[in-house]
Amino acid sequence: MSQRARRRLDRRATKEQGGKEARQERPEASEATLYRLLFRVVLRRLPAETAHRAGFALIRVAGATGVAGLLGRWLGPRDPVLRVRALGLEFPGPLGLAAGFDKDARATSGLGALGFGFVEVGTVTARAQPGNPRPRMFRLPADRALVNRMGFNNEGAAAAAARLRGPRGRRRGGPVVGVNIGKTRTVPEAEAAEDYAASARAVADVADYVVVNVSSPNTPGLRDLQAADRLRPVLVAVRAALDAGTGEGRRVPLLVKIAPDLTGPDVDAVADLAVELKLDGIIATNTTTSRDGLASSAAEVAAAGAGGLSGPPLRGPALAVLRRLRERAGDRLVLIAAGGIQTPDDAWERLAAGATLVQAYTGFIYGGPLWPRRMHAGLARRARAAGRSGLGAAGGGPAREPASGAVPD
Ligand SMILES: Cc1cc2nc3c(=O)[nH]c(=O)nc-3n(C[C@H](O)[C@H](O)[C@H](O)COP(=O)(O)O)c2cc1C
Repeated sequence: MSQRARRRLDRRATKEQGGKEARQERPEASEATLYRLLFRVVLRRLPAETAHRAGFALIRVAGATGVAGLLGRWLGPRDPVLRVRALGLEFPGPLGLAAGFDKDARATSGLGALGFGFVEVGTVTARAQPGNPRPRMFRLPADRALVNRMGFNNEGAAAAAARLRGPRGRRRGGPVVGVNIGKTRTVPEAEAAEDYAASARAVADVADYVVVNVSSPNTPGLRDLQAADRLRPVLVAVRAALDAGTGEGRRVPLLVKIAPDLTGPDVDAVADLAVELKLDGIIATNTTTSRDGLASSAAEVAAAGAGGLSGPPLRGPALAVLRRLRERAGDRLVLIAAGGIQTPDDAWERLAAGATLVQAYTGFIYGGPLWPRRMHAGLARRARAAGRSGLGAAGGGPAREPASGAVPD
């Protein structure tokens, strides 16, 4: 064998060994590559909502059979460094699935088994509704982003609640489940408070926490409810409905979910109102209507059309809103960060900016079924490297950075 050929063989052997070691050290890396391949070759060629439905059906089946238990043991966050106590609940890990993926609460067991620390179902509305005509969900792969104008397609709050209650009429086991509620499209704004309250009543006994969603861009006028004077009656009515719908001694934590497109003073006003009404927290943020700074071609962006943009382009605006909230509310509210979280570093950055928990949707679509596990594994490594014994205040958490309100005034 010539020297050149031998050198080439040596180089290949070293590379293969390196790859093997890297895989042994981080099995998540090769799983991610496999899913990337599947995504590029199969899923990307399907319409986004069809791919979603196919993946969703598999997760649902896994949850409905004994597979969930096995999966949960393999994929669930077990490292004690990841545990978070917030909202009076125990979370095995800080990463949850954001609202919109499991609108009708059909797959909470399967989603929990994939390793999410919690699952937010919904948005559900008081009355069942079909949502917008299809197509209504689009990928922008160059940005690892999505555009959607689903329009709260769902079977109604009561149906989701019945599913969560299960055949025995009581929720048993499974992950922490939040229920996200929205306004029925055909209900006029003047009746919004009663409409939200009807959903709250329907889910009060099965929700570990409830989120008032006033920030989706796909229900006309919904985001106007973020103005403090319009938001107040909605939150008051929902709080009363939750208190009336639960037995003695149980108080359902209540949060409000806001858009990344609010101005700084609007963010402050929501924070002040949440503190005044003794809400438990705020989720920051929903999708954006902005199309600034995208790598995708103008034609692709135009083809997707109107709707909410999610994924990495949201990272900056969502982080700015989170920082502003933390600066305004101090430690009086639990903040759940969402918007463009796709890597453990993204999640860590939100925790450092004052979030107690984080959520994602688009990262899961691009990252695949093993993505929650990779995220939690990466976060655990990050926490240990920083010498923390936990992510919350008790464990030191990520060092809180000084707050700075970068949201435009
Ligand atoms: C297809 C799709 C549907 C969504 N539906 C809802 C919804 O029904 N209610 C809601 O509050 N947020 C909904 N969202 C917003 C997400 O919960 C999340 O706030 C947003 O996508 C930002 O996070 P991400 O960048 O990790 O996706 C939806 C997002 C997507 C992509």
